[in-house]
Amino acid sequence: MATATRTFTRALRTSARPAFAAAPRIAFRQSGRRFYSSEPAAKKGSSAWVWLVGAAAVGGGGWYYLNQQGSALPKVFKPKFEDYQAVYNEIANRLEENEDYDDGSYGPVLVRLAWHASGTYDVNTKTGGSNGATMRFSPESDHGANAGLKAARDFLEPVKQKFPWITYSDLWILAGVCAIQEMLGPDVPYRPGRQDKDVSACTPDGRLPDAAQGQDHLRNIFYRMGFNDQEIVALAGAHALGRCHTDRSGYSGPWTFSPTVLTNDYYRLLLEEKWQWKKWNGPKQYEDKKTKSLMMLPADMALVEDKKFREWVKKYAADNDLFFKDFSNVVVKLFELGVPFPEDTPQWVFKRVNA
Ligand code: HEM
Repeated sequence: MATATRTFTRALRTSARPAFAAAPRIAFRQSGRRFYSSEPAAKKGSSAWVWLVGAAAVGGGGWYYLNQQGSALPKVFKPKFEDYQAVYNEIANRLEENEDYDDGSYGPVLVRLAWHASGTYDVNTKTGGSNGATMRFSPESDHGANAGLKAARDFLEPVKQKFPWITYSDLWILAGVCAIQEMLGPDVPYRPGRQDKDVSACTPDGRLPDAAQGQDHLRNIFYRMGFNDQEIVALAGAHALGRCHTDRSGYSGPWTFSPTVLTNDYYRLLLEEKWQWKKWNGPKQYEDKKTKSLMMLPADMALVEDKKFREWVKKYAADNDLFFKDFSNVVVKLFELGVPFPEDTPQWVFKRVNA
């Protein structure tokens, strides 16, 4: 099944992209798993030390230790690149170890978590965005758009336990970055420094897009975050990954034949396949005429119905490198919405583990 999927996807491509070869990827995955062992001694966590919850207020990633008697602060732990890379490695290894989920990877749902954490941003009120991880709390966790994201949050909880110094906000975005890279997407540069907020910072329902609607709605929603037409189309290419679930959004099925590998196939399929309404009792969605195994949402179809959007769909369908370049840029922008990074915040590209 997986092999047929990949063969079909490869056959669809006109331009070869070496990284796309899935078989070597699998071989590499089987032989090349690496375990990271350079965690700083401080994190190995003797019981003599407890983490000070309020340390987040320090800002800029500085973390203080208190001993159990709550006495003086002898140490400051300021996580460095190596520390975040260790978290990346942990997530990447967990992705490899939990292949019995969905199409074989938690990667897509991690990308969706990072996107829904960020996509609540409102450029006018400067509320929402990836700074806060407020989806931990009801009511935001119960918003219809966030249905199913508990799977991603639960997947990351052991990582948070192992690396308690990282904020949920930084962890969720790091997981999105890791998932994109490990699913053979482009490098996604990362800056740390997000701070968790409490329930009072939860955003109101309705900030994320409604899949049943068309281009006007997409523009309203994404312009509110500060994106333009080109960026909207580039972001939507993430739908090369993952699938819809009837028990989450109500929709059903994947967009592409290789839902755990990031490619420009979403655009190619949008243009090249014939799409028809699916006959079923669920919400209105499209299926491909040929195999009836792929899907498009009404909101996806708006990208080929709208003239301006369509120009970008054509560009990305024709040029995977252009898609990767633009996708990386726009995803970095998305993942940084609403984060007040200090000027000297470093930007890192993490080393891939299994990709
Ligand atoms: C353009 C407006 C968008 C709409 C209307 C939309 C809607 C949806 C819906 C209905 C699902 C299915 C959820 C489920 O049933 O599990 C979904 C899944 C997904 N979305 Fe979007 N989305 C949009 C934009 C984006 C963006 C900007 C990204 C990331 C940059 C993204 C990434 C994903 C991923 C990776 C999945 C698969 C999740 C999984 O497999 O569990 N989407 N989206």
